[in-house]
Amino acid sequence: MTAPLQEPKLNVLIFAASLRAGSLNRQLATLAARVAEQAGATVDYASMREFDVPSYDGDIEKAEGIPRGAGELRRRLEACDAFIISSPEYNGSMPGHFKNVIDWTSRFRPQPFDGKQGLLMSASPSMMGGNRGLWALRTPLEHLGARVYPDMFSLAQAHKTLVDGDITDVALRGRFEKNLQAFLSLAEAVKHYPCIKRAWVEFLGEPPGSPVDRVDPVAS
Ligand SMILES: Cc1cc2nc3c(=O)[nH]c(=O)nc-3n(C[C@H](O)[C@H](O)[C@H](O)COP(=O)(O)O)c2cc1C
Repeated sequence: MTAPLQEPKLNVLIFAASLRAGSLNRQLATLAARVAEQAGATVDYASMREFDVPSYDGDIEKAEGIPRGAGELRRRLEACDAFIISSPEYNGSMPGHFKNVIDWTSRFRPQPFDGKQGLLMSASPSMMGGNRGLWALRTPLEHLGARVYPDMFSLAQAHKTLVDGDITDVALRGRFEKNLQAFLSLAEAVKHYPCIKRAWVEFLGEPPGSPVDRVDPVAS
């Protein structure tokens, strides 16, 4: 009898887009890493500090190239099949420091976000759970060709609902796991079934090859 085929494990990059040591998003990202590992994935857990960069400046880019922090995010993105980000919401949007890291990282070619599967989550003490920030974060990621999963998980009142690094409410914990599992299933399908067609639709009317191109042309 032949042994069942062992498919290579899914490599998932996970990090919180917060620099704070006591970050609620870091707790949620750590929980996501634990659940993803239990589901059979190989997790690369990163810290936002590893992606530290100065404010984007075209003159610095010209003189010194793309900074090390963005290079580190590129390296980790290239090594993963999928990424999970837990991001705080600042003033109804995504954190400025993270947008800045994305901007620097988008300067590499090939452009490292292109075609990556991504899941977004957030934690906040507010009743909205930071969900508006995730809608803002989707925009640059999707612009760069990342396949951002439709369902996003936002944990409201996270200072109460996260206890010892776990979600205490049974229904909320169930929803968190279901969301994560559904995303991992899709990412696995994309990894193991390369016949799934990669397609990218450029904005109609945008002349190809212009300075606004954000991904390399892919055969469709
Ligand atoms: C500059 C700033 C703006 C904030 N704006 C929002 C906001 O719009 N919505 C929200 O839910 N929380 C907001 N907060 C509160 C954060 O959600 C809270 O500080 C959270 O704990 C940050 O995430 P972290 O714990 O992962 O660092 C803001 C915090 C700061 C520092």
